[in-house]
Amino acid sequence: MFSKETYVNRRKQLKNKINSGLVLILGNNDSPMNYKSNTYHFRQDSTFLYFFGIDLQGLAAIIDIDNNEDILFGDDYTIDDTIWMGPQTSMQEKAALSGINRTEPFAKLSTTVSEAISKKRLVHFTPPYRGENIMLLADLLNIHHREVEKQSSLELTKACIDLRSIKEPCEIEEMERQMTTAYKMHTTAMKMARPGIPEQEITGVLEGVSMSGGGMISFPVICSVRGETLHNHYHGNMLKKGDLLLVDAGSESQLHYATDHTRTTPVTGKFSETQRKVYQIVLEANDRAREATKPGVAYRDVHLLACKVITSGLKEMGLMKGNIDEAVAAGAHALFMPHGLGHMIGLDVHDMEDYDDTLVGYDEEVERSTQFGLAALRLGRRLQPGFTITNEPGVYFIPALIDNWKAANKFTEFINYEKLEEFKGFGGIRLEDDLLVTEEGCRILGKRIPITVEEVEQIAGTGV
Ligand code: GLY
Ligand code: MN
Ligand code: MN
Repeated sequence: MFSKETYVNRRKQLKNKINSGLVLILGNNDSPMNYKSNTYHFRQDSTFLYFFGIDLQGLAAIIDIDNNEDILFGDDYTIDDTIWMGPQTSMQEKAALSGINRTEPFAKLSTTVSEAISKKRLVHFTPPYRGENIMLLADLLNIHHREVEKQSSLELTKACIDLRSIKEPCEIEEMERQMTTAYKMHTTAMKMARPGIPEQEITGVLEGVSMSGGGMISFPVICSVRGETLHNHYHGNMLKKGDLLLVDAGSESQLHYATDHTRTTPVTGKFSETQRKVYQIVLEANDRAREATKPGVAYRDVHLLACKVITSGLKEMGLMKGNIDEAVAAGAHALFMPHGLGHMIGLDVHDMEDYDDTLVGYDEEVERSTQFGLAALRLGRRLQPGFTITNEPGVYFIPALIDNWKAANKFTEFINYEKLEEFKGFGGIRLEDDLLVTEEGCRILGKRIPITVEEVEQIAGTGV
């Protein structure tokens, strides 16, 4: 945990942002895999971690805005629990680590919430995402479970986004520490990228490196020679000569801060001439986007800059044509990069997405587009010092999308479909770094994972 002052201060700031009522924050519980006592790896709720830091099951908390009081609800472990789980700290001890004096049995949560409702006090909660907590909220509020999400508090959600968007020095230190593990994960994958190695084997090693380095993976590993499928979780291919291996993987720190990087490695150790050309385009987009990342700049504009770099490169290769600005304004480049440049990262790999990604990434000034490609951009608003974000341009040749657009004669003034036929087996390239927005501009978190053609070719397939 961070210092208890960290949590006390966060709750104090939250109280200043909420007018009145109770803030109800539910922790997560174990979720069964196949029978009740055989559970998935426990992951505490990120909002609970942010305000309380206690990484355990069976907890809920109330921040009483009107009475300036914080209450932790949960039950002390019994002797039976101790037999199976070993010695445990008391509720009072846990609460003290978070700077809370008052604890109550979990069963008291229901009466506390009912009393508040009967007095017409507001009960604020953020949109729940787990079935068990939706059911619990339905019971506590005495409403149908389908009504729960509608009653979540926009006031609380916006306040949480305001606080969590700007990372504190202790959070940046925690993230930066985990970058060593991220570096090891990706350089290991690059070294393992040799013909005859199954994707599954590399995926397993990556999960192990993450776990050895402090925590579980921050999202399911993408490790595929079919990198054109953006979130490819199939690991059944064998690496072969000429393939490009795309690895998008991240690790959670002990306090559950995420890393998220992508590298693309030639399986034979050297890029072919065509692979190198496309790779350089993506690298140029990554570098130019980072150079443009600074406070006051809307990330949507940085995204569009990266798209222009990609369009310009593809035009040079004869795959696109026409005016670059017009092509990007029309969204023609999205055939090659259908996703956004990046997202916030922190306690969640897509930080705060349980709240609503549009609320996190957009505001009154920068509204979310509905255009294919740009609509997938999760962060569009102006950047501020203390934001931690990803920079992840890519170029993909997705046969089904190419065929779909070609059949519809889409953007024929910008796309050379004839030449594109040769690229249908190419795959995809994505290059992703994690950035901290500083007062002056931004910097890459951690040591940069090998990324230039020379660096990648030097490490590719060298073995571990
Ligand atoms: N790992 C998913 C992403 O890069 O956003
Ligand atoms: Mn990623
Ligand atoms: Mn990402």
